[in-house]
Order: sequence, then C-alpha cells, then structure tokens
Amino acid sequence: MTSQHASEDGIRFVLNGKAVSFAGRPDTTALDVIRNHFGLKGTKEGCAEGDCGACTVLLRRDGAARQAANACIMTAAQLDGVELTTVEGLKRDGVMTPLQEAMASNGSSQCGFCTPGIVMSLTGLIENTPQPEEEAIHDALAGNLCRCTGYKPIVEAARTAAAAGLEPAMAADLPDWHSEVSSDGSVLHQPATLDELTALRAAHPDAVILAGGTDLGVARADYHSDWDRIVSTRRTRELRAIDETADAWTFGAAVTWGEILEAVREDYPSWATLIRRFGSTQIRAMGTVGGNIGTASPIGDGPPALIALGATITLASQARGSRSLPLEDFFLDYRKTELKSDEVIVSVTVPRPKPGEAFRVYKLSKRYDQDISTVCGAFWLAMEDGKVTACRFAYGGMAAIPKRARASEDKLLGQPLDVSAQAEAVAALSEDFAPLSDWRGSADYRMRTAGALVQRLARDLAGETVEVMAL
Ligand SMILES: Cc1cc2nc3c(=O)[nH]c(=O)nc-3n(C[C@H](O)[C@H](O)[C@H](O)COP(=O)(O)OP(=O)(O)OC[C@H]3O[C@@H](n4cnc5c(N)ncnc54)[C@H](O)[C@@H]3O)c2cc1C
Ligand code: FES
Ligand code: FES
Repeated sequence: MTSQHASEDGIRFVLNGKAVSFAGRPDTTALDVIRNHFGLKGTKEGCAEGDCGACTVLLRRDGAARQAANACIMTAAQLDGVELTTVEGLKRDGVMTPLQEAMASNGSSQCGFCTPGIVMSLTGLIENTPQPEEEAIHDALAGNLCRCTGYKPIVEAARTAAAAGLEPAMAADLPDWHSEVSSDGSVLHQPATLDELTALRAAHPDAVILAGGTDLGVARADYHSDWDRIVSTRRTRELRAIDETADAWTFGAAVTWGEILEAVREDYPSWATLIRRFGSTQIRAMGTVGGNIGTASPIGDGPPALIALGATITLASQARGSRSLPLEDFFLDYRKTELKSDEVIVSVTVPRPKPGEAFRVYKLSKRYDQDISTVCGAFWLAMEDGKVTACRFAYGGMAAIPKRARASEDKLLGQPLDVSAQAEAVAALSEDFAPLSDWRGSADYRMRTAGALVQRLARDLAGETVEVMAL
C-alpha cells in the first residue's frame, strides 16, 4: 500500500495485530517505542548495537514474510507502514506456539534475558524455512547471544518445533506509508522515486540518508546524535529493484544483503558463503548494499568482493543526472568517496560468471559469525590453457580503503598458478599494501594472512579442500 501524503497522526504501523500510531520523533529507536511508549517489556535491551539479539522482533514489510530484526538499531522511521511483532504477540488464541512450548519444556532458558530474542529469531527462521537444515538453525542463532543456558537445548527446541510445524501468522493488512512524517523537530521523508530522492538530497544536503540503519543506528547510539531530517531510501522504487540479465545483476542501493544472498547463491557460491557471515540474519534483513558502500569502511565486507567481481556503481543527482564508475574508483581515502553532497548511490552492477572464470572470497575475523573482517581477500581470475589471462584481487583491512592488489595481480598474468608464481604474487603484496596494526590484528598478521589467502586460493582452485573458517 502506498501514500503520497504527509501523515497527520504520526507513524502508523501494525503492532501485534493491532493498528497503532506513534506521534513521537521519527528518530526515536524502535526499542524505545516498543518498551517505553507501548509498555511491551518482553523485548530486551542488551548491547544496544545489534550484536546480542536480545531486542529481536519480527518485521513484515511490503507483504513479504516476517523477518527477524534488531529493534535497538532500528528507528521509528522504519516502522511506518509495516507490521511489527514482539514476543508478546506470538501466542495464538492465548496458546503458546510449539516453539515457545519446546523452549519451556526443554530447559532452553535459564535467566531468560536472551529468551524472547531467541524465540523471535527462531520463529522467523521456521516461518521462512519450515524444515530448516541444522546449518540454518545455527545461522538463525548467529545474532543471538546466551550467556547461561548453552546453545544445545536451544537448538534442540528449534528442531522439535520445526518437526511440530509452525503455521505462519496471518499477514495483517499493512497501513499506508507516508511521504512525510514529522514530530517534535524531526522530519522523515520517504521518496517513492529516484527523482523525488535526488530532489530531497539537493534541498537538504545535511539530511541523514537512511537505508537499513545498521551502521547509522550504531553510530547514533554511540554518539547520541539526533536526526532532525531523515530521508529514507526504503520506499524508493529504483533503489529497491533487482535486475537480472544474462550478463549482469543490478542491485538497487536499498536491496538488502539477505536479498542479494538469495540472488547470487548459484552464480557465486563463494560470495554466498561470505554473505552468510555478514552480520547475522537480523543484520542481513535490514542492512543494504548501498549502506555498506556508503559507510566506506576499510573493513566492510561488500566492497572487496564487488571490486574483484568488476562491479560498477551508479550515482545520481538532481542537477547532473546519473553517472557510473568502477566501484574501485569510488573509494578515495579513509571514509572519503566520490559521492558528492547532492548525490545518492542508485545501484551496483555485478557481471555474471563466464566460462573459464573463477571467483573466491575469504573473510578472516576473530569470531566466525557476527564479526567484521580483520582481513578480507577477494579474487577473480580468467584462465586459459592453465594460465591466468586476467585477474582482479581486492582486499579489505589492508589499507585506508578497500583496494586492488595490482602489483600482486601483475605477477600472475600469463603465468600458471604454480608455487613460484604464487610466491611472487605474495611478495608483491608489500608493494600494494602497508597495513596498520589495531586491536583486530597487527600489520604483520595482516600481511601474512593476505599472502596466505593467495595460497589458499591456489589450493582451492586446484580442488584441495580448504576449510573456510575464522583464524
Ligand atoms: C551487529 C552488526 C554486524 C555487522 N556485520 C557486518 C559484517 O559482517 N560485514 C560488514 O561489512 N558490515 C557489517 N555491519 C555493518 C552494516 O550492517 C553494513 O555496513 C550494512 O550493509 C549497512 O547498510 P545499511 O542499509 O544498514 O546502512 P545505513 O546504516 O542505513 O547507512 C550507512 C551509510 O550509508 C549511507 N547511505 C545509505 N544508502 C545510501 C544511498 N543510497 N546513497 C548515499 N548514501 C547512502 C548512509 O547515509 C550512511 O552514511 C554490521 C553491523 C552491525 C550492527
Ligand atoms: S540490544 Fe543487543 S542486539 Fe539489540
Ligand atoms: S538464558 Fe540467560 S542469557 Fe540466555
């Protein structure tokens, strides 16, 4: 449902089956709205930065299935026109769901602080995947921390509930969303088209451009900043589009990592493995490709893979229209990019694989799940008669920006991927990079592991089994 009108009674959404409105500032956290405005205390606050899952709720947007998301880094702005379910809304006719029963009878909860969040994550899983594989259960729990029960009885409860079946809840009619909502000095704009978005960007260069809010929400919690003007990209048609041709995927900037994972699973299994380790199910449901690029973190997981795959980025402004450039040219210096103050990121175009090409990406992080990379290495190669005819290697965590390893690439061109060519490529990495030491890893660790990833690539392409795990 859509509306091109400004709202006069605040943000309207469905909460646990009932139409409600919230007339406070759109930059209020959703957790605050749930706990303090509506008095629903089952949704907990643990870390307040998307890591622990205690605040997990279910969100239905655009009529899609309900998805688990973190209320602590979400804002009221993201609730307009959606259906929100908290743990209080799970019971059907006053009866606990099979999952709640299984959690209660299986000893899956001790102090109980994490339990509502875990129940919401697993409900999201079982509603979307009625017979989940073991791996899917673990994936669904990657964003939920329990400090006292231990995960075994929780996983057992998930298996029991999945076997019993969980009827998805009836979808409520979504209320209209609004082009503008304002309250108490904070304004939310929800442009429906790219033209509207670029016009707002030009008129309000200082507005917060909000996509999934998984970076912005953490920054806001850390710095207690207020957002007096928000321009959300969630309702902008062109930014939500996924276009597939025989040659390329084009992902609108507001396409989520969860959606990209589904799209690229078959074309790029190695990339899909990386995306499964991108945050948690909750983060992938909200976090977008445009947000990841817009943040321009040197350790973001999107850019290395996209650069190695030869992606191009499209930007647009009201004054100058659209322009496209290779993604590798978008990053200029630490958190500095090509994006001008009147521009937005529209989309990213990723070539599809052709015969004779190979692609691998490896992420090294302190934890396997729900952790940002220390080093991420992405490798695309074209091979003919056993020799490398073209290649693009890109690393995160090795420089102030996500960056190509051109000297290393040069050593492989025209060569077989044998031990001596690998050694030259590894040695040349010191021409490409002079990484920093920080709490994630020392410069020495980063150089050594970046080289080890080239060797891992060669073994992987030679068909040797390589465990992809955190180091
Ligand atoms: C718990 C947790 C785990 C995480 N794990 C990972 C991880 O494993 N790997 C990783 O890389 N990242 C991770 N992140 C970071 C984050 O989830 C990603 O960077 C995500 O892709 C950001 O997307 P978003 O839509 O939430 O961006 P937002 O927070 O909405 O926006 C981020 C920035 O991009 C700008 N922006 C957004 N869209 C546009 C646009 N169309 N045009 C111009 N500017 C725009 C915003 O203004 C803002 O500056 C994690 C975050 C959390 C909280
Ligand atoms: S409170 Fe920890 S993820 Fe939200
Ligand atoms: S039951 Fe105590 S934190 Fe999980």
